[in-house]
Amino acid sequence: MAVIEDCYERLPVIPPIALFGLLAVAGYLFSWLDLRWKTKAPLVGLKTPFDLRVVANWHVFMNLGAILDDGYARFKNQIFRFARNDCDMIVVPNKYIEEIRALPMNVANPKAAHVHNLLGPYTNMDLIMSGDLHFRSIQTKLTPNLASLAAPMRDELKHAVNMELPDCRDQWTTIKPYHVILHMVARLSARVFVGLPIARNEEWLEISTQFTENVFVTLLAMRVFPTWMHPFIAPFIPPRWKLHNYIKRAQKLLVPEIKRRQAAYYSGQGEKESRSLLQWMIESADTAEEQDPNFLAHLETIISLASIHTSQMNAVHVMYDLAAHPEYLEPLRQEIRTVAAEPGGWNKSSYGKLRKLDSFLRESQRFNPPSILAYHRIMQDTAILSDGTILPRGSHIAMAVNKIQNDADVTPEPEKFDPFRYERMRSRAGEGHLHQFATAEPNKLNFGYGKYACPGRFFAALEIKTILVELIMNYDVKLLDGCNRPENLRAYEFIFPNPDVEVQIRARPVEEQMQLDVAE
Ligand code: HEM
Ligand SMILES: *[C@@H]1O[C@H](CO)[C@@H](O)[C@H](O)[C@H]1NC(C)=O
Repeated sequence: MAVIEDCYERLPVIPPIALFGLLAVAGYLFSWLDLRWKTKAPLVGLKTPFDLRVVANWHVFMNLGAILDDGYARFKNQIFRFARNDCDMIVVPNKYIEEIRALPMNVANPKAAHVHNLLGPYTNMDLIMSGDLHFRSIQTKLTPNLASLAAPMRDELKHAVNMELPDCRDQWTTIKPYHVILHMVARLSARVFVGLPIARNEEWLEISTQFTENVFVTLLAMRVFPTWMHPFIAPFIPPRWKLHNYIKRAQKLLVPEIKRRQAAYYSGQGEKESRSLLQWMIESADTAEEQDPNFLAHLETIISLASIHTSQMNAVHVMYDLAAHPEYLEPLRQEIRTVAAEPGGWNKSSYGKLRKLDSFLRESQRFNPPSILAYHRIMQDTAILSDGTILPRGSHIAMAVNKIQNDADVTPEPEKFDPFRYERMRSRAGEGHLHQFATAEPNKLNFGYGKYACPGRFFAALEIKTILVELIMNYDVKLLDGCNRPENLRAYEFIFPNPDVEVQIRARPVEEQMQLDVAE
C-alpha cells in the first residue's frame, strides 16, 4: 500500500484545468493549421485571422453571397475555396466547364456530391447512389413523352384550382403564393409521377411535400455542427425523426399499387395502365433491387424532393415578380391569346410557343436561382486540367452559378430585370431554339450542364407554364399596398422565396377569361 502511494506522489501532477487548457490550445492550433495549410487554392470567407472552421462555416451559413462576391472579384479566373464544416469547397471558374464535363463519373462524381450536400446518410437520400433508374426513366421516358402529358396536367390543374384557390370573383383576395403553388405543383407532379388514383390521395400529397421540407430543415441544422458531431446530434433533430416515417408511409401507400401494376405489366397487361413515371420505372427496372416495390416507393419520394420544391420556388418567384411588375401581365396574355388563336387551337404544343413566358421564367430564375452554387462534383480521382490546375482526389468542387450568369460579359446590364430579354435573343436568326428556360448552357448552370444536367428540366418548364398560364389568363395579381418585391431568404448556398408573403389576386371578368383546355 505504502509503495503505491509513494509512486503516485512522484508523478508530475497536472491539474485537470490545465490539462483541458492544453488540449484546447492544441486543438485550436491543429484546426487553425488544418484550415490554412490544406490546399493551395486561396481561402476566402474568414473575417479575422483567428477564425476556425466552425466560424468560417457560420459565415457561409449567414452570407455565402458576399463570400462569393469577394472570391469572384479577386479570383474570377482561378480556383479558390471557402471552408465549410464538412469540407473545403473549391470554387472552379467557368472557363473549365468543358474540361470538367468531359471527366467521367469515376473521376468527377455529381451524385456523390448531391448525396454529400443533402447529408444522405441522415436524410435517406443515399438511395440515389444505387443505380440510375430515376434518372434514365425521366430522361428516356418522361421527357420524350412530355407532349402527351400536357392534357392530363391541365386536367389536374383544374382540380387543383378548385382545391387550392379561394373564391375571388369581383374581390381582391389575399393568398400566400408559396403554399398555394406548392400544393398545385405537388398535385400536378403526383398526376405525372404516380398517376391516378394515388395522385388525389391527401396522404401522398402530404408526404411528397413534407419530406422535402424536413430534409431541408434537417440539413440546415446539422450543417452548423462539425461533421464528427453528426452521429451524436442527429438523434436530437426533430424533423429528422419524421423522415424515416415518411418513407415508411410512402411504402405502405405505394407498394400495393406497385405490386398490382408489376403483376399487370409482367402478364402483358401493362399497356392499359396510365402513363406515369411510376409505370415507366416499373417497365425500365432491370435489376432485382430496381424491381423491389419498397425501393421504388422510396425512389418516388426522393424524386418528389428533386422536383416539387425546385419547380414550386421558381413559379413563386415568377408570381412575386409579376405582382411587383404587373405591366408585364398584358404582353404575356396577348402572347397566350395569339397562340390559342392559331388554327390548331390550344393544343399540346402550345406551351412550347410561349416565348415571352419562357423568357420570364428564365429571367426570374437568374434573379432568384435555387442555389448560388451548382455543378457540384466530388473528385473520385485527382484531375489535372490543361493549364496544370489540380483538383485533388476527395475534394468537393462547384461553380458560382450566380456570379457567372450575372457577369456583364454573360448578361448585359445584369442588374436590370428585363423579363423578355431572352425572347428578343431568340428572335435573332438561327437562335430560335436557344436561350430557353430549360436550355443548359456553359454559363447558365441552374440546371447543371452536360450529361448529368437535371433530367427533369423540360418537365419543370411545362409544369410551371401549365400553372402560370391559368393564373395569368384568369387572375389579376398585385402586392399588398405599400409593399415591394419580397426579399428572398438565404441559408448557405440556398435561396428560398419567403413562404409567409401574401399577395392579392382577383378573378378577371368572365368575358376576359380563357379556359385553355388542351385538345388531344
Ligand atoms: C426549376 C426546377 C428545377 C431545378 C432548378 C433543378 C435543378 C437541378 C440541378 C442543379 C441538378 C444537378 C445537376 C448536376 O448534377 O449538375 C438537378 C438534378 C436532378 N433533377 Fe432537377 N431541377 C428542377 C426540377 C426537376 C424536376 C421537375 C425533376 C423531376 C421530374 C428533377 C429531377 C432531377 C433529378 C432526377 C436529378 C439528378 C439527381 C441524380 O443525379 O441522381 N428536377 N436538378
Ligand atoms: C397544334 O396547333 C398548331 C398551330 O395551329 C398546329 O400546327 C399543330 O399541328 C397542332 N398540333 C396538334 C398536335 O394538334
